[in-house]
Amino acid sequence: MSKAKMNAAIAALDMVEDGMVLGLGSGSTAEIFIELLGDKISQGFKVQGVPTSKATAVCAKKFKVPLLDPDKVERIHLTIDGADEVDENFQMIKGGGACLLREKIIADASEHMAVIVDNSKIVKTLGAFPLPVEVDPFAMALTAERIYTALIQSGCETASTTLRQKKVTTSKSGKKSPAGPLLTDGNNYILDCACTAIPDPQLTASLLASLPGVMEHGLFINLADTLIVGEEDMAKVMEIVRE
Ligand code: A5P
Repeated sequence: MSKAKMNAAIAALDMVEDGMVLGLGSGSTAEIFIELLGDKISQGFKVQGVPTSKATAVCAKKFKVPLLDPDKVERIHLTIDGADEVDENFQMIKGGGACLLREKIIADASEHMAVIVDNSKIVKTLGAFPLPVEVDPFAMALTAERIYTALIQSGCETASTTLRQKKVTTSKSGKKSPAGPLLTDGNNYILDCACTAIPDPQLTASLLASLPGVMEHGLFINLADTLIVGEEDMAKVMEIVRE
């Protein structure tokens, strides 16, 4: 487990107040946070979580974090989630774990979003990490073509799109799991778009959002309120609030 991710999660725990409804992000950093939250709950602290993925719901149950049905949530005080890249304006790429649609629904509905990352996620310009775009499987090749055009129109120099595949695993008996495109929790596909650099994330986000087959894209613009950058040394962990 990365110490920097752990320290970011520890710092985020300080933001949690008794009685809060929390959006629970997805990915390894968010899962560290959920484990720490579980410890706090076992000592009498009362919070409820709203999971952003099936994997997060499994993790929350494992660490005895009470969950609310996302359909019945009226208010989310704070969401804690990881990210794949964050720039100096708190703009982010998310979706490395294929949970971007549900993560964005919960982040957007939250009163406050805190992002927990290790320092390797901080970049000057977004785009070295391929941008995940969640698409409806129907006529996916047509949508992929339009995504390519949108990325180029918004200033990306390259924009090759790759359909994300399931991880093939081998069971103890040597049987391999079936190969094929990865399906998100909402039964959509993910196109990973290698852009090298995204010079105008806001423009790219708005062009992608206008395409009918795009269910959601991994650019999170103006959603993060607090950024917690984890370091190996707890004393060097940075917590920055967006103005
Ligand atoms: C999940 O879809 C992603 O948005 C994750 O939040 C992101 O990939 C960060 O994951 P790690 O915390 O595992 O680096």
